[in-house]
Amino acid sequence: MRADFLIIGGHGDLALRKLYPALYYLQKFNHLTDDLRIIVVARQALSKQALIDKIRLRIDASEQGLDAAEWEKFVARLCYHVGDATDPVFLSALRDKSFNDSARELVIYLAIPPDIIFSICKALQQADIMRPNIRLVIEKPLGNNLESFNSINQVLLSICTPQQIYRIDHYLGKEAAQNLLALRFANTFLEPLWNAHHIDHVQINVLETVGIEGRWQFYEQTGALRDMVQSHLLQLLCLVAMEPPAKMFGESVYNAKLKVLMSLRKIDEHNLRQCVVRGQYTRGTVDGQAVPGYLEESDADQHSTTETFIAIKASLDNWRWGGVPFYLRTGKRMQKRYTEIVVQFQNVPHKVFAEDQANRLVIRLQPDESIRLYLMNKVPGIDTTTRLHPTALNLSLSEAFPGLHIPDAYERLLQDALRANNTLFTHSEELELSWKWVDDIIATWQSLDYKPIPYAAGGDGPAAGIALITDDNRVWY
Ligand code: BG6
Repeated sequence: MRADFLIIGGHGDLALRKLYPALYYLQKFNHLTDDLRIIVVARQALSKQALIDKIRLRIDASEQGLDAAEWEKFVARLCYHVGDATDPVFLSALRDKSFNDSARELVIYLAIPPDIIFSICKALQQADIMRPNIRLVIEKPLGNNLESFNSINQVLLSICTPQQIYRIDHYLGKEAAQNLLALRFANTFLEPLWNAHHIDHVQINVLETVGIEGRWQFYEQTGALRDMVQSHLLQLLCLVAMEPPAKMFGESVYNAKLKVLMSLRKIDEHNLRQCVVRGQYTRGTVDGQAVPGYLEESDADQHSTTETFIAIKASLDNWRWGGVPFYLRTGKRMQKRYTEIVVQFQNVPHKVFAEDQANRLVIRLQPDESIRLYLMNKVPGIDTTTRLHPTALNLSLSEAFPGLHIPDAYERLLQDALRANNTLFTHSEELELSWKWVDDIIATWQSLDYKPIPYAAGGDGPAAGIALITDDNRVWY
């Protein structure tokens, strides 16, 4: 395969933080063909050297640092163009200069702010860029609700076929998310237990210590439900709950995910208060540093009612999961950063020991990817009563595969886009269903005037977020 990679938005935060480092590591681990070019389009009138310097800083600070020979090779791939990608004249000239060889495949990555997606698509259309062997990769947010998602989708479909569109949800590219699929579908012991008969509940926690990272305007229109739940948490929920697909490829996988999303129980005025807790951080201390509250961030509107924390008790109305709650929780400015899926098995049907006995499977996505299965163990000793303690069978990726590079989600996803494998990208129907579910929740809290509860930065979120699960006699792990 002969392919090139075109980044629109070459000086942007996403390109610098994720795309260049991912491409550098793909090269380092021999996943890029020697002739692959990285064509960069940037609107800012900065020199190529300025871009190279910025990328260098990122690679220097990355996991394995910068290797001089690799770096030289990487810089040689970069073709840099300053121009406005919403201008069809600029795009046609770029094509004639940089990618007019129709035999070469091209992956175009739109690393752009969401508000210019329409004008870029229009320009791509007017410049007649989208030949069949070009793929378009786009980032979330894809809209702010179902209606705006559909408008974006229509524009994309007016310039290319569904197979050419690669919608990124980077959580699907995370190594531990992939490992969850391996755990479920490459082992036999779990499958008979993976249902409402044996599982008490599931928790998906995506907790962050960062705040809104200077993105107040964006975040204010978004909030935790749209920013994190609609995409990342629902995708993780799909991986936990989906039926085994016929193949680990394309349609088989997203059809299995679609069925999960179709069975999500609607949250409306009858159950919102029992199922949803919203929070907004106030000033506090995170990692020993004093941090401002959401309403004190620069540009903040004092009357904002946007949530920076959300906890949801979701239910799936289907045969496998009937009666099993899925507790979803995500928040900014929390005490610790971690992303974990916890599958809590039921207690034994009849207790012969004094303590509660239940197994728990914990899939840690970050930091330190691992899978831990907690089994009840007898504490050694000759006490009159047997004492039990949950002990983990621990599969830490870094311990099990020492020295092996654990790829960042973007490495995996960019490589898949280059190889035209869209399995780990989201399908429009999945996004329609998840937007629909989220839109219903938002419409309900708007009609009930259901506001976020303040919580101090650096803590565990609002007390009501804890009560959401303790009221069911369960705890967040
Ligand atoms: C992004 C959200 O999609 O995911 C951010 O817009 C969030 O608000 C980020 O911080 C989290 O990604 P990760 O990979 O750091 O967990």
